[in-house]
Amino acid sequence: MKVTIDAERRIGVRDRMLYGQFLEHFHRQVYGGVFDPGSPLSNGDGLREDVIEAVRRLDVPILRWPGGCFISSYHWLDGVGAEREPVFDKMWRVEDPNTFGTDEYVKFCRAIGCEPYICTNAGTGTQEEMSDWVEYCNLDHEGRYARMRIANGSREPFAVKYWSVGNENWGAWEIGAKTRDEWGHFVREAAKMIKHVDPTVELSAAALPDVDWNLGLLRQCSDYLDWISIHQYWDAIHETNNASKFDQVVGMMTDLDGNIVKVRGLLDALGLSDRIRIAFDEWNLREWYHPKAVTIEQGVTKDEYLTPRDGNDDNSLYTMADAVFSAGFLNVLNRNCRSVGMACFSPLVNTRGCIFVHPKGIVLRPTYFVFDLYANHLGDVVLDDWCAGGDTVTVADPSGADVTVPALDVLSTTWEDGHAVALAVSSRDRARAHGMEISLDELAPHGKVTMLTLNGPSEESYNDIGHTDVSIATRDLGAYHPGMRVDVDPHSVNIIEIQR
Ligand code: AHR
Repeated sequence: MKVTIDAERRIGVRDRMLYGQFLEHFHRQVYGGVFDPGSPLSNGDGLREDVIEAVRRLDVPILRWPGGCFISSYHWLDGVGAEREPVFDKMWRVEDPNTFGTDEYVKFCRAIGCEPYICTNAGTGTQEEMSDWVEYCNLDHEGRYARMRIANGSREPFAVKYWSVGNENWGAWEIGAKTRDEWGHFVREAAKMIKHVDPTVELSAAALPDVDWNLGLLRQCSDYLDWISIHQYWDAIHETNNASKFDQVVGMMTDLDGNIVKVRGLLDALGLSDRIRIAFDEWNLREWYHPKAVTIEQGVTKDEYLTPRDGNDDNSLYTMADAVFSAGFLNVLNRNCRSVGMACFSPLVNTRGCIFVHPKGIVLRPTYFVFDLYANHLGDVVLDDWCAGGDTVTVADPSGADVTVPALDVLSTTWEDGHAVALAVSSRDRARAHGMEISLDELAPHGKVTMLTLNGPSEESYNDIGHTDVSIATRDLGAYHPGMRVDVDPHSVNIIEIQR
């Protein structure tokens, strides 16, 4: 493959919020994840300091919370104040102690240095309850809820800028699901009250790549919305936990931008693309494992629906397949940065997250290092490079049909100050290395070339407690010269940085 780069051929400037994360009250993401007051590894606020340190390295820009399906029967007042009453979470069928609520969430966001992004209850909740939450977070002192926040110890407003109305309210599994005809009006009334409390907030609403649903929403609410929210998971294993292997995962990567194209098309058709952007605020290769939860038939015994959730904690499931997929999807998000302004990996810790948290420490899964590479070593100006020729790899797609994809997936970037060019290159070939010629003569770079390679001994390599097979190696490739060739290892994710 030959990749030709022209720093003037710019697709756009990537919003740093494409590297966002998601945290839900599910299994051990919150309790036993980021929040563990009894742990010697936690600070005075009960937040795990080793988690905070690892997350800060990723420079996470935004953290969506508290759900996800959980939100659709959550009442935020249960999670504030001195006395917290445990509540039965009707979605995930467990008792939520409510000891981690809005104040603790905002403290966690401050600790990791990111923007809060609150998803509100459009299932059993009301528009007034949503706007009361905005009062609690954003009003200075006016009214009962701002005064409540002050009484709870926070004199200054939390200044939560990003809010979403609802989560997947189009889905039959969602508590308090809405019909297409109900949704637009419901969101409009919520948006009206929220913006009456704080007209400076940016507002999203639950949507999906469906013209009818989105048309109903946008026709009634486009004047209130700044974002439209969609989600996607590719490996459909929420009932089985039977994680697809490397080649199967590559077979899922042929249409990664399909849903973005569908939603953008409607925004374009309605003339809204310059004002409403896509918030891809839940994405992961793997569905979360929670058998008999999002089905009509609910499990009866805990062994049927609750204890199997520990299967998400099997770190051997998260391999270089997850890393190569996540790099491929981050490339798609970057290439679509003019219409996708936010994305949240789902979730941040435990379940399918990039960090596994256990009582004595943490494990950095392969996807953690992908975010480390992209957040810390890629430019924010996305270039329209030209990839010619190159090897391909043929694998079976989910239907079993053969699909042929380029062996290497390349994203080219630079910085506004032009000090370097950085390429993200991942290999979808689990067996062979592939050569790549880099042509950026126009940039006449004279600087050195550095290659950071995330990999393990095989495509199935993973990290676990006391077992580190996946890590980043750094190589100095010397000075750039015209026609420079680089070999890309199988099943690897790489950043090639070329100083100018
Ligand atoms: O499997 C987890 C769920 O996936 C989230 O709670 C929801 O938003 C999505 O459907």
